[in-house]
Amino acid sequence: MTSPPCPYAALYEPEFHADPQTVNERLRKEYGPVIPVELEPGVRGWSVIDYATLISWCRDTRTFSRDSRRWRDWREGRLADDSGTLGMMMHRPNVLFADGAEHQRLRRAVTDSLAATDPQALTEVARASANQLIDAFCERGEAELLEEYARLLPFLVINHLFGFEEENARRFAVAMRDLFDGIHAERANAELERVASAEITRKRRQPGKDVTTGLLEHRAELADEEILQHLVLIVGAGNEPTANLIANAMRILLTDRDLGDDVAGSRTSIEDAVDRVLWSDSPLTNYPVMYPTSDIPLANGQEIKEGEPVMLGYAAANRNVAQEYAESMGSAPNRAHLAFGVGPHRCPAQDTAIMIANTGLRTLLRRLPGLRLGVPPEELEWRVSIFARSLTRLPITFDPQPPSAEGTPWKQSHSSPETSTASPDASAPSGRSSLSNFLARLMRGR
Ligand code: HEM
Repeated sequence: MTSPPCPYAALYEPEFHADPQTVNERLRKEYGPVIPVELEPGVRGWSVIDYATLISWCRDTRTFSRDSRRWRDWREGRLADDSGTLGMMMHRPNVLFADGAEHQRLRRAVTDSLAATDPQALTEVARASANQLIDAFCERGEAELLEEYARLLPFLVINHLFGFEEENARRFAVAMRDLFDGIHAERANAELERVASAEITRKRRQPGKDVTTGLLEHRAELADEEILQHLVLIVGAGNEPTANLIANAMRILLTDRDLGDDVAGSRTSIEDAVDRVLWSDSPLTNYPVMYPTSDIPLANGQEIKEGEPVMLGYAAANRNVAQEYAESMGSAPNRAHLAFGVGPHRCPAQDTAIMIANTGLRTLLRRLPGLRLGVPPEELEWRVSIFARSLTRLPITFDPQPPSAEGTPWKQSHSSPETSTASPDASAPSGRSSLSNFLARLMRGR
């Protein structure tokens, strides 16, 4: 006798991640636009997986709060201290968890500081970083793209954006890795805060043209603790989804022969291919989370109780719309996907993220002829993450190539030690920076 299907999506189960679409669609038929989910054994919530509902609920700041101190299970002490979801959902005094006027104040500081950076120079950093990373493996004819490239590129670019000193960037990278892997999360968190604090002190003495200085000098007069929390948030919020966008896009380019051929033949641009991936494999699946300020009756007779977590199911909503559109129009729709969110909290760095992904993919395709998947597609696996659409690995093969003739891109594009992410390492081949060498070793040791 087969057991009845689970009445909710168990977001922590490997089976769910093997095929989230089937589970979501089954539950959508049963419950409608908002489906019940289990975040970890015994911890329940909801996920909004409908495009129109997401838009209207994200804009309804009266009914929904981002402040996770409203989370009923947390308030009433039902979460274990080592709960795996706390790291991402625990309240921090930053823009992501703020509502109303407080959100507007913090958001202005973040968007102004990001806007003050030079997009042209940042694109050049992305291009130079991509070349450095490729130089490290191009002669081998094979690589593990996720760890040797996709995870490192956003880190190098975002580190430049913040102007962190190299030693602090290394410590930050180690702590971020430990936090995401759930290793010594408390210690990793403390280390992140120590490093951010050291950078704040350094930038007060030596301001630069970077986001850290922008936050320090902003007229919103953020307290040091607020600046620290925003450094941790933005570096974290920026790295993981951008890395996943690069890897998810490359997976599709290598497994969807029509799309791969169209991009190779310039019939489809990299930008359009990335848009397709933002519809089909959005990097954030069920994040951020909102908390109703009062009970909400659902059309099917159920009720979301005040303080129950309502996860933003951007990936499922996007995929559903893309599928319906493809069935009726024969192609993926325009850029109206919700991969970067909607409403007052929508991602303030969408252009930066897309620039990093486009530059990363374009450089790979240009530098590595004969690029192929290194394993049969069915051997690729998705990480068990309730918040992210993320591969566990992405092995590739290609025709071996010599390192780029660019020499030491860091020297060319960033002579100022104040804003340089990495000073060139004399012992490193092909002008590879010691920071990118360090990061590559760190990722290999995961
Ligand atoms: C492909 C990469 C990225 C994706 C898919 C992504 C997606 C998102 C999403 C879905 C949200 C929440 C929207 C909502 O609450 O409705 C968000 C917020 C945010 N993102 Fe991104 N993001 C990416 C890259 C970045 C980067 C590179 C940065 C910074 C350098 C960044 C900084 C932020 C910040 C600060 C917020 C909070 C905004 C607020 O609460 O007002 N993101 N992002």
